[in-house]
Amino acid sequence: MEEMREEASDNHSQLNMEGALITRDRVGVQDFVLLDSHTSEAAFLDNLRKRYRENLIYVNLHAFMTSSFMAILVLVSRRYCELTCNCGKVTCLRLQPAYKSDQRTYIGTLLVSVNPYKELDFYSIKQMEIYQGVNFFELPPHIYAIADNAYRIMCAEYNNHFILISGESGAGKTEASKKILQYFAVTCPTTEQLQIVRDRLLLSNPVLEAFGNAKTLRNDNSSRFGKYMDIQFDFKGAPVGGHILSYLIEKSRVVHQNNGERNFHIFYQLLEGGEDDLLRWLGLERNPQKYMYLIQGRCAKVSVINDKSDWKTVHKAFSVIDFTETDIESLSLWPQHLFGVIASVLHLGNIQYEEDSNGHAIITNSSQIKWISKLLGIHLSILQEALTHRKIEARSEEVLSPLNIDLAFCARDAAAKAIYGRTFTWLVNKINGSLANKDLTRKTVIGLLDIYGFEVFDTNSFEQFCINYCNEKLQQLLIEMTLKVEQEEYEMEGIEWEPIPYFNNKIICDLVEEKHKGIISILDEECLRPGEATDLSFLEKLEEKVGDHAHFLTRKLADQKTRKSIDWVDFRLLHYAGEVTYCVVGFLEKNNDLLYRNLKEVLCKSKNGIIKECFFPSELDNRRRPETVATQFKNSLASLIEILMSKEPSYIRCIKPNEGKEPGKFDDVLIRHQVKYLGLMEHLRVRRAGFAYRRKYELFLQRYKSLCPATWPHWHGPAADGVERLIKHIGYKPEEYKLGRTKIFIRFPRTLFATEDAFEFSKHLLATRIQARYKGCLGKREYKKQKEAAIKLEACWRGVLARKEAKRRMWAVETIKRFIKGFINRKNPLCPENDEFISFVQYTYLRKLRDHVPKNVLDKNWLKPPAILEETSEMLKKICMRNLVRKYCQGITAEKDAQLRQKVVASAIFRGKKDGYLQSISQPFADTRLSERERSPKVLQLIRGETVKYMTPVIKYDRNGFKARERQLVLTQSAAYVVEMAKIKQKIDYATLKGISTSNLSDGLLVIHVPEDNKQKGDVILQCEHIFETVTKLCMLANKQNAVQVVQGSLQFHISSGKEGMIAFTTGQEPQIYKAKNGHLTVVSTRTKS
Ligand SMILES: Nc1ncnc2c1ncn2[C@@H]1O[C@H](COP(=O)(O)OP(=O)(O)OP(=O)(O)O)[C@@H](O)[C@H]1O
Ligand SMILES: [Mg+2]
Repeated sequence: MEEMREEASDNHSQLNMEGALITRDRVGVQDFVLLDSHTSEAAFLDNLRKRYRENLIYVNLHAFMTSSFMAILVLVSRRYCELTCNCGKVTCLRLQPAYKSDQRTYIGTLLVSVNPYKELDFYSIKQMEIYQGVNFFELPPHIYAIADNAYRIMCAEYNNHFILISGESGAGKTEASKKILQYFAVTCPTTEQLQIVRDRLLLSNPVLEAFGNAKTLRNDNSSRFGKYMDIQFDFKGAPVGGHILSYLIEKSRVVHQNNGERNFHIFYQLLEGGEDDLLRWLGLERNPQKYMYLIQGRCAKVSVINDKSDWKTVHKAFSVIDFTETDIESLSLWPQHLFGVIASVLHLGNIQYEEDSNGHAIITNSSQIKWISKLLGIHLSILQEALTHRKIEARSEEVLSPLNIDLAFCARDAAAKAIYGRTFTWLVNKINGSLANKDLTRKTVIGLLDIYGFEVFDTNSFEQFCINYCNEKLQQLLIEMTLKVEQEEYEMEGIEWEPIPYFNNKIICDLVEEKHKGIISILDEECLRPGEATDLSFLEKLEEKVGDHAHFLTRKLADQKTRKSIDWVDFRLLHYAGEVTYCVVGFLEKNNDLLYRNLKEVLCKSKNGIIKECFFPSELDNRRRPETVATQFKNSLASLIEILMSKEPSYIRCIKPNEGKEPGKFDDVLIRHQVKYLGLMEHLRVRRAGFAYRRKYELFLQRYKSLCPATWPHWHGPAADGVERLIKHIGYKPEEYKLGRTKIFIRFPRTLFATEDAFEFSKHLLATRIQARYKGCLGKREYKKQKEAAIKLEACWRGVLARKEAKRRMWAVETIKRFIKGFINRKNPLCPENDEFISFVQYTYLRKLRDHVPKNVLDKNWLKPPAILEETSEMLKKICMRNLVRKYCQGITAEKDAQLRQKVVASAIFRGKKDGYLQSISQPFADTRLSERERSPKVLQLIRGETVKYMTPVIKYDRNGFKARERQLVLTQSAAYVVEMAKIKQKIDYATLKGISTSNLSDGLLVIHVPEDNKQKGDVILQCEHIFETVTKLCMLANKQNAVQVVQGSLQFHISSGKEGMIAFTTGQEPQIYKAKNGHLTVVSTRTKS
């Protein structure tokens, strides 16, 4: 598979190749229906030949024109697939599910395939992709197109299909079925999980081929069993499982092969490819020539078959197929078990007998039997006895009777056949187990029927009889489903129709299978009747009962001419595909397929896991005679036909171009013969003349009623009238359709095409409308739900809010009540009635107070406390003030400190005593009132031993005349100096200073009193601008704060010893100082507001 994928990646070269292919495919016609002379067999063959020469091995036999209605269906189905796959919900738009055979709507597609006998290049992945989902007739005919077509219709209509692959042995049926399987494996959607199913489906083929196919004269890989394989698909179209039905494996091949033929491939593969260890374990030698069961055809080695590589494929397939959980234990063992069985069959073939003295058979070579005993897990002596004796039931007793040499060989071969046959069935079951899909959802299937092809050998036996009977049945099915049913239908429906004659092989089928009268019944009768029945007595019975049948002949019944070609032990059947002469020898034995009871018993006891599962002890208890092989086969074919009849068909008719398996050789005679017996010409004629589509009125109306207002949404009258009304509305022309009794027949695909298109269009409209309604409903439902939910939520929320509010109010009422009570009791001692109120008041006051505490020491505001907090408030106020003071004090500098001390002294002296004091408070005291320039260096020189503390300009009044003179007052730490320019006019030692006087008015006058006995001059009368500052500094320096007096009205001063003067202080309009007439110094000052 991977290789194929890689191959596909080379797009460019592929495309070129395809281009070439399509060009080449213009050779001849791609659909036989397009042949000009559709009744000419020569033209038919010519077309086949032309195309075959160009390696164009496929031709359609289908419809009228390239735009077949199937194309529409493919188109439609593709859209359906998209719809269903994308949303998975539009199942309501699907068509009717599986029809019964009589309700079949379409003529199945039919592909003619000619075996090329060489590898062709159009089976790549790229090719598969090209055919995938493409209109059936858009591309050249191909097996992929037919597979894809069936798949698409299956997806669209959700019904079951089958592809019937028929043709004679070697025509290419098995190859075709493999190609279809590969196509599905590659193109169908799959998941990682489903890959295993896909692989198992694919790998079941090599396993079954190894065990069920063999080289015959007709075909190197001839299927020696019938196979019907159902591939199951889920609703998305992914392959999810499978089931295989197998039909009658040709067991006789295990013990006997005609010249030029081989036994089943697996024997040779095991010997050729099996590892040394395995062979040793099985007791086998690598040489097939050593085994009697492998050399009867004298061609154990065939150049075209590579047993070694086939072994590898089979071995690999085993590992993929078998791992169901239930088999875990035997998982690693079962291939060994299986090969143990295969090996034991080979050993069985090598068992030789010889007669003992009593004429009884005894086994001559003990090594073989030992190996069988080991491989099958059966005790040696029991096995030995079973292969040489037979158990006879005499009344209630069971007696072991020894076998003669012929019967012993028969017993041996019967055992080998039974073992192999049942193992094959076991293998099919095993594969089915691994393909089984366990989920119970509904699935659709496509069945692939690949059965052994019609075959004619020099000597034909019971197996060929069964095989050819099977082919007769399938041919009949095809005729039934196409030629017969179709023509009968036209007749039944009253459609004008010119019947086309065809060979109906029902007559041969009846000859073989009819109850009581058919060959199988006669054979069974012979097998079951008491007495000595032989193959010859069977032949006689045949002559007696069906001797007059037109398709039956024996030597006795034949005319002179044909007699020679029929032996005395032969009978001849005129099959649909030609005459076959069967040799009756072995018919009875093969039909009975008896295994001696004691052999069965022994095999039931086998320890080999597979044999144990193949032979049940319950079988031994069942005393009823088992159904004969032919009857079993007949019944299984009948049920197969039933299965097929319930499905939609597609057909592949395989043609074998020559007998020599040669590529490129087109054997006209051989092919003409096949074309004839396959009924292809009749098929073509029916197709050309018939109707492309038919459908019951009810179903047609049901599907298309939306196209006409009168029929939509309901038509209440008869369906036929509704259809008539409908097609009138659509505008069908008379030549386009016919109305039958119960169905409408549409001749041209284009008519249906247009109808389908219109339906497709209307369907979308309808779907949109339905969707809109549905969405509307959903929306409304959702809206209602949401609204209800919202109302509920709202109600809940409102409830919550209301409860919260009520609680809040209750709380408020309670609180207010408590407050009122608290307020009433506020003056009482603390008690439960007032404690909360009081706390609240305290809390509120304290909170408020926090925002109103004084910010500085001068701020005297304080929040008025409630009565209960007065004490606390007072304490807090003090704390606060103390705190402010502390902070204030901490912020005072040395300078400021000195300043303040001076101010404090000034306050003690002047506060409330002298006008102008209050105004002076805010003016800071200066260190000096003289600028640098005004200071006399000479004076400073004179008092250099002292520190100058203060200097200020003053007006000095003479003590006698009160003449005013500008002077400076200089204060040092020990004395005060009255200085005139550079001269010290008067020095007053602080120690001698008697006092300092000022008036209570704002005159700036001060008197420095000195002692009377002072040798110096008398008291000093000065006037200065900064009276408070000057007086304070002076008294502080002299440390005579108590010596300062503030006088009212007048002041007496000392002029000189014994002589006093007077200063009178008054107020007036203008400030002035003058000597009054009474000789006093009068000082007038304006009154300042204080
Ligand atoms: N499409 C093909 N391309 C190449 N070779 C093919 C093709 N079909 C068939 N063959 C060749 O023809 C041989 C026989 O084909 P196949 O085994 O499919 O025949 P059959 O119809 O199944 O025969 P039988 O009835 O004996 O089983 C194949 O082994 C193969 O070599
Ligand atoms: Mg085959």
